[in-house]
Amino acid sequence: MCGIVGYVGNRGSLDVLVGGLKRLEYRGYDSAGVAVIDPEGRLGTRKHAGKLGVLTDDLGATPLADGHTGIGHTRWATHGGPTDENAHPHLGDDGRLALIHNGIIENFGELKDELAAAGHTFSSETDSEVAALLVGDAYRATGDLTQAMLQVVNRLEGAFTLLAVHAEQPGVVVGARRNSPLVIGLGEGENFLGSDVAAFVAYTRRAMEIGQDQLVTIRPDSVEIVDFGGAPVDASTFEVDWDASAAEKGGWSSFMAKEISEEPEAVAKTIIGRVDDGLVRIPELDGLDEGFLSTIDRVVVIACGTAAYAGMVGKYAIEQWARVPVDVELAHEFRYREPVLGPNTLVVSISQSGETMDTLMAVKYARKEGAKTLSICNTQGATIPRESDAVVYTHAGPEVAVASTKAFVAQITAMYLFGIQLGQVRGTLDDARARELVRELQAVPDKLATVLATGDRIRELARWMADTQSVLFLGRHVGYPVALEGALKLKELAYIHAEGFAAGELKHGPIALIEPGQVVFVIVPSPRDTNSLHAKVVSNIQEIRARGARVIAIAEAGDAAVLPHADEVIRIPLASPFFEPLLAVVPLHIFGMELAAAKGLDVDQPRNLAKSVTVE
Ligand code: M6R
Repeated sequence: MCGIVGYVGNRGSLDVLVGGLKRLEYRGYDSAGVAVIDPEGRLGTRKHAGKLGVLTDDLGATPLADGHTGIGHTRWATHGGPTDENAHPHLGDDGRLALIHNGIIENFGELKDELAAAGHTFSSETDSEVAALLVGDAYRATGDLTQAMLQVVNRLEGAFTLLAVHAEQPGVVVGARRNSPLVIGLGEGENFLGSDVAAFVAYTRRAMEIGQDQLVTIRPDSVEIVDFGGAPVDASTFEVDWDASAAEKGGWSSFMAKEISEEPEAVAKTIIGRVDDGLVRIPELDGLDEGFLSTIDRVVVIACGTAAYAGMVGKYAIEQWARVPVDVELAHEFRYREPVLGPNTLVVSISQSGETMDTLMAVKYARKEGAKTLSICNTQGATIPRESDAVVYTHAGPEVAVASTKAFVAQITAMYLFGIQLGQVRGTLDDARARELVRELQAVPDKLATVLATGDRIRELARWMADTQSVLFLGRHVGYPVALEGALKLKELAYIHAEGFAAGELKHGPIALIEPGQVVFVIVPSPRDTNSLHAKVVSNIQEIRARGARVIAIAEAGDAAVLPHADEVIRIPLASPFFEPLLAVVPLHIFGMELAAAKGLDVDQPRNLAKSVTVE
């Protein structure tokens, strides 16, 4: 949601702003705008509903006087529709101040009444314009942008990132954040602000974190951070571990196609540095200390969407390997039911972006209730890791397509590593078994490469099914979350009604959906599985086939039992049952993408969705 860029330095600011917004496009947006201060100290703005191209075409046709200080914004509409008027920047101080905003200002109604009573009129329906007018008024009183912002942020309720520039202060951009993302990029004689590092990674990989309720003033040669009380704050810097090319499409037809192709690498990179002498040793868990790991009496996983399905896969593995109960809960449901948490509960959040508001709020709640928190996250400098006691980063690299793919397999990998280490620490896995699991996990990337090779056949199937109205997905045990993930991908990418079920649930209701021609994907457990789930799922296939379903089975190589019953079998390499989700999900990712492409849809930016859901 909303992309934010700020720049001061000696480059032409429009190039930096538009380039940054381009790299933030993946977050999802419906309008875009920029504000720059030209060398004469005049503030110019331009903003438009629609994609960035509408803005850049206008800038090409009627150039805006450029300078070296500016802010840029992509808006995901909340208050007021996606119109030119509601697009950011918004103006204050009689057009001398420009402000951009991400988040929701919850008390904007009363502030708007106050501004109206003072004689202000409004040119948009947004909550953000209220902040622009307030900062403008505060600037008139203080003559200083930092002081003006400080006064105003303390009056705002809700979640926000704000950036502002004032025509009288070229060379200064002020930013503030509360429960909404903002990262600082550190250059030589130039500095940047961004919703995430993608905004500036083309110019610098040196970045600085800014905490909650903090305000930053950047100039070409300085960065000053204070808290909302005005007291100076020390911030830590970090090096971005990928470069701009990692966030480019390369020769691929879509970011999603590229990211699916990177699934083997995402698993491999998440393992690297976390295996020592054949056993798992995740250095980042030192933040929790081994003593605590052995006393955990319960793990609660909180996450949303695809990340929650990664948590479900992790649940099966952790309970088996470490013999600790694991509950998986959707983060948005978590804090509103006053969950029971204790000092020996470990709350594990999973989030690709590290900015999902529902997950962030659940983490904060868990900490307040005295639980320890571990974040599994793919984005350096994000908020959720900073709000947690420890963080295990997944190393999937930047994920640009809205639909999560390589981050999903990396999240599952991180959960497996955590589960193995927990088993080692608690003595529920002996070294020999732990080493065996590690070897199996390390073998997954090569096996994934084999699965990717089935892509052409899946593309054919997807083309054939372009007019399909409904698809069901069945799985059992760790195959169940895979079924849920397959269904979610079809909903969000191809706008097709899709449902995932635990295969055992079929006879309790969903089998009524089966009619001739209904397409059903079935994730078939390994026949080598010791708890005989394979036979049960094959029976399920027979039941639905008898009622006319068209069955596409995802089954292990050599599993002959499914052949007579399925219309189509997609083969995955042999792996022990717990590692099958990593292999079985890839055909479903490819299928979702190819079906959307066959329908002529935008695979990378599906309708109504944002990559980073920073509002509740
Ligand atoms: O950034 P997060 O992992 O916290 O995002 C969670 C969900 O919003 C995300 O997984 C969403 O479900 C994806 N669009 C699924 O492809």
